[in-house]
Amino acid sequence: MTSPGRKRVLSGITATGRLHIGNYIGAISLWAENQDTYENFLFVADLHALTIPEAVAGTSLRARVEEIFALYIACGIDPEQSTLFVQSDVHEHAELGWLMTCATPVSWLERSTQFKTKGKIADVDAGVGAGLLCYPALQAADILLYNADYVPVGEDQQQHVEMSRDIARRFNALIRKSGSRIMGLDDPTAKMSKSLAERQAGHAVALLDPPDQARRAIMRAVTDSRPAVDFGAGLALGVDNLLTILECLTGTTRAQSQERFDGARYGALKTAVADVAVDLLTDIQGRYHEIVDDRAQLAKLLAHGADRARSIAAGKLAQAYRACGLRS
Ligand code: TRP
Repeated sequence: MTSPGRKRVLSGITATGRLHIGNYIGAISLWAENQDTYENFLFVADLHALTIPEAVAGTSLRARVEEIFALYIACGIDPEQSTLFVQSDVHEHAELGWLMTCATPVSWLERSTQFKTKGKIADVDAGVGAGLLCYPALQAADILLYNADYVPVGEDQQQHVEMSRDIARRFNALIRKSGSRIMGLDDPTAKMSKSLAERQAGHAVALLDPPDQARRAIMRAVTDSRPAVDFGAGLALGVDNLLTILECLTGTTRAQSQERFDGARYGALKTAVADVAVDLLTDIQGRYHEIVDDRAQLAKLLAHGADRARSIAAGKLAQAYRACGLRS
């Protein structure tokens, strides 16, 4: 709800795959926790998803977008308390994105790590679209449209947000200290990612995975060749990752983990993580199905969020058009 004096938070997730517990821990649960403190603007970044054509090919992107929208709510985002919307439902994003693109030096965009890595993965024959290069300019527009004070994102998005500040000179980053970076279960050196999850079974736990599948993925998580957790000897990345997941999901500290798991067999740690994850998934999925089963109500929520977002974004876009000399 609009209440003067409250700081504004804006954040989104690109609709390139299925949401997983890394997204939940690093972003969505944090947004939900902060709902009373901040005026939240939370969206599904579907325009950004178009920059990765193979991630969206062959699927109905809108269906995926609505799945994510419903999952935000199922994860505890209240669509009345927060302004919850789909990026492309608010045409101001595309329009201000263009103005930002024109204001951004190509040399800055070429420095983006995401552009360098995703540009390489993208099918070379199909050609990398210019949208992948201009991604940070659209992201800057997202932030500017709402005059966001805070942009809570995972560490991998930090460079984009910093670039947004350079482009717009107006933001603060709010990054979760622990858990903003949940690593892949099959490869704890790579961040848990929606696109890797699409290619590698056992990489992630998607929020809509059947709970017993989630349990199996966690029980198979890569650790190291030792049999038991040994805090003294230093933790393998995969063990550290499992502990981080558990701590984030249960609100416990590393000290408490040490007390509980030092010397414990990896199987015991994995079982503990799996139990908590299965409970979480069961809970989220119950609410998710209630939301998507009521199509009329879902359509109402989508329209309601877009209207609320537009009531703020429209004024900002008009200002930007004036600043460019396109309106008097
Ligand atoms: N790039 C972000 C991601 O991949 C999504 C995003 C788009 C975003 N625009 C944003 C995040 C603006 C924060 C602010 O998840």
